[in-house]
Amino acid sequence: MKLRKFVDPLPIPSTLKPNTILNGVPYYEVTMLQCVQQLHRDLSPTTIWGYNGMYPGPTIEAFSHHLTRVCWKNQLPRKHFLPVDKTVHGAEPSNPEVRTVVHLHGGATPDYSDGYPEAWFTNNFQEVGPYFTTKIYDYPNLQPSTALWYHDHAVGITRLNIYAGLSGFYFIRDTQEQMLNLPKGNYEVPLMVQDRSFNTNGSLYYPCEPEIPVEGVCPSVIPEFFGDTILVNGKVWPYLDIEPRRYRFRLLNASNSRFYNFSLSSNQFFYQIGSDQGLLKQPVMLKEILLGPAERADVIVDFSMQYGDTIILQNSAPAPFPDGDVPEPETTGSILQFRINRPLCSLDTSTIPYYLTHMPILSEDLASKTRQLSLDMTQDAYGREINLLNNKRWAEPITECPKLGTYELWSFLNTTDDAHPIHIHLVRFQVLDRQPYDVDLYQQTGNISTTGPKITPPLNERGWKDTVIANPGEITRVIFAVGPFTGLYVWHCHILEHEDHEMMLPYIVIR
Ligand code: C2O
Ligand code: CU
Ligand code: CU
Repeated sequence: MKLRKFVDPLPIPSTLKPNTILNGVPYYEVTMLQCVQQLHRDLSPTTIWGYNGMYPGPTIEAFSHHLTRVCWKNQLPRKHFLPVDKTVHGAEPSNPEVRTVVHLHGGATPDYSDGYPEAWFTNNFQEVGPYFTTKIYDYPNLQPSTALWYHDHAVGITRLNIYAGLSGFYFIRDTQEQMLNLPKGNYEVPLMVQDRSFNTNGSLYYPCEPEIPVEGVCPSVIPEFFGDTILVNGKVWPYLDIEPRRYRFRLLNASNSRFYNFSLSSNQFFYQIGSDQGLLKQPVMLKEILLGPAERADVIVDFSMQYGDTIILQNSAPAPFPDGDVPEPETTGSILQFRINRPLCSLDTSTIPYYLTHMPILSEDLASKTRQLSLDMTQDAYGREINLLNNKRWAEPITECPKLGTYELWSFLNTTDDAHPIHIHLVRFQVLDRQPYDVDLYQQTGNISTTGPKITPPLNERGWKDTVIANPGEITRVIFAVGPFTGLYVWHCHILEHEDHEMMLPYIVIR
């Protein structure tokens, strides 16, 4: 299906209003619903699943160290409209087909509110019940200002639930951010970037099996998903009218498998001011920004000299990353069009501050425990490609039990040909370095022999992160303080097809 680019304006998801405020705590109700939505001017309305019936979901605004409470409700149909593979762990026929659980990605959240993949709930149709239909989750927001996002996390069908539309922004604000005089209001724009494919009738297309079908399994999980169409905030290739001034963009890669290497067709710089978990120490000037699935970048673009121009936000990341096909400039190489055609409606008094926030550097000597964790590819019982963490599966005994208040160093040894965006729930980490090593020797003997120097992360990765790209053939090391809560959490690859197919493990924070 060929769709005209840049014919629809960029939608901005509305901000959610609390249903009530109890003892100073805002209380929200959000209901997951099946709806139809116009995703492009020339496309018939598309069936989606949305929080409050919206794709993307409404934006939640929270304030650092102020509790938010959300009641999540499932009122979805009993059948999925996308192909569910019942051989995948957690999606067996003995479980209801449509299950949901909400995770606040990047949130420092107590475990009972973190959206554990097995803590799913349903619409509780009588014939499959009794199950919960709602969950009330507490978000203490014990972290500095940043862009988080909430999305579905139900074991075995996360890729399908998010693809159907279950994701939304969640901003944490704080006084540090407010003092910086950054572009705000209409000049701060969230950008949720996703790839999708469509059937000619406008419905979402998701393959029901891999290109080479698997004996005896249909529908079957696929190794990775790449759509031929790019959507921002739920619109196909939209445009945004712009005034000649500075804008702040909150970039989020919410795609299933696709990486994006963002650039501007005007060859301008992005001023990156924040990463996944908040502000950087200082802005970093970049012509390209790479984001794997679930990563975020907080950037300022200065359009003040660009009046009359049209600028395209472009993508050059191969799919699969890093050794796949380069995107075509006319399709997946294009994301969004900026039209600098609006008169300046007030003087731009915003700034790009020289200094943003205090950023302590965690030294590796702090770590009381180091874990070598391999990222592996093998075959499952049906002969399908399967990616694992430490050669373990979800249901095996838990091996990672870090102690609250200590520091741990996690060292990811990627033995595969794919880059994997590795996400750890609960904590924020710093990337120490990446280093090439001899993969064959490691796989044959278990010995680690490095083949080049340690590479320190680029300047825009020297802040707090919750998701890190582990490149093939490299050891990627991260360090973090364990906490702020004890309990049961997960860590996983954020390529959703990998996550659903066993590339996810539980871990326990112990006292
Ligand atoms: Cu964005 Cu475990 O998730
Ligand atoms: Cu998360
Ligand atoms: Cu992966």
